[in-house]
Amino acid sequence: MKYRRSGKSGVLLPEISLGMWHNFGCLTPYETSRAIALTAFDCGIVHFDLANNYGPEPGAAENFMGSMMRSDFCAHRDELFISTKAAYDMWEGPYGSWASRKHLTASLNQSLKRMSLEYVDLFYCHRYDPETPLEETLQTLVDVVRQGKALYIGISRWPVEAARFAYHYLRQRDVPCLIYQGRLNLLDQSPVQEGILEQGLEDGVGFISFSPLAQGLLTDRYLNGIPEDSRIAHDPRFLKADALTPERLAQLRALNDIAEQRGESLATMALAWILQQKGVTSVLVGASSPEQLRRNLKATESAPFTSEEIQQINKLTR
Ligand SMILES: NC(=O)c1ccc[n+]([C@@H]2O[C@H](COP(=O)([O-])OP(=O)(O)OC[C@H]3O[C@@H](n4cnc5c(N)ncnc54)[C@H](OP(=O)(O)O)[C@@H]3O)[C@@H](O)[C@H]2O)c1
Repeated sequence: MKYRRSGKSGVLLPEISLGMWHNFGCLTPYETSRAIALTAFDCGIVHFDLANNYGPEPGAAENFMGSMMRSDFCAHRDELFISTKAAYDMWEGPYGSWASRKHLTASLNQSLKRMSLEYVDLFYCHRYDPETPLEETLQTLVDVVRQGKALYIGISRWPVEAARFAYHYLRQRDVPCLIYQGRLNLLDQSPVQEGILEQGLEDGVGFISFSPLAQGLLTDRYLNGIPEDSRIAHDPRFLKADALTPERLAQLRALNDIAEQRGESLATMALAWILQQKGVTSVLVGASSPEQLRRNLKATESAPFTSEEIQQINKLTR
């Protein structure tokens, strides 16, 4: 595994990190989730990304991590970089969501219990809250670091102006933002277009890309129908069959042709493309099997894109 520095911090993150949004809840056998997590660790994927609500049920992925921390990972806490998040709907009532001090603090306390951890390495505000004063959210992030409940903090899915304000506020309090988590992939290049990556470079903040394979669209998974064991078939909470329009399929097949010319799979090319964007620290992949995860490691060895390939890709994706 190759490791990259997150922004101007002291933290090195693996180029490929593992996300636990899917495949670590009650829809997946424990032994499958365990095999994926152990494969990750054995391959040097030491960064595991969670959130309070990952499951299903909400909290199930953190419970899984807790049982790993009490068993297989018990002797390896200091080799792991574990993140979690709060701000999406988690429990009933006015404090179960968004980015107030009440929600963020209570949620992080719950996450630590579920994961059997004394602290997380990274705590994110999972989304921008237009109703809570930014200062309240950001001061809470500073405070959880001061309390020793998180080592670093990050933000996810914030508009660029709010991110700029956050970077400044946090730096002034000596708790610089470690990383911005946003969706960047061949089908969604908004963090580049909106200036999120550029802002991160200016402020010394890293960037980690979620759903780098567009939940599996940017692989060979759906090029010839919908396999029974695919996300669309067995867990279509967020990715549904209607995503596979004729136009989308034609685009994916054309991208697959470019990948074949490069002598690699569409998944490898899609991940390599992200890793070659300026300002990217890591890609946060999901995997439903250890084999998928191992195959995705090839992206770290992928050749640089030629200007002709970039032109072909831009024509298909912009
Ligand atoms: N901050 C946020 O708001 C936010 C939002 C979404 C996600 N995230 C984070 O990002 C992580 C990754 O998201 P994601 O799961 O959508 O990532 P993804 O990497 O875009 O998609 C993962 C899915 O792609 C398929 N896949 C992976 N490798 C493959 C390969 N080599 N060949 C064929 N298919 C392959 C698998 O689908 P099958 O199940 O069909 O095999 C896998 O479950 C999450 O776990 C979470 O940590 C954050």
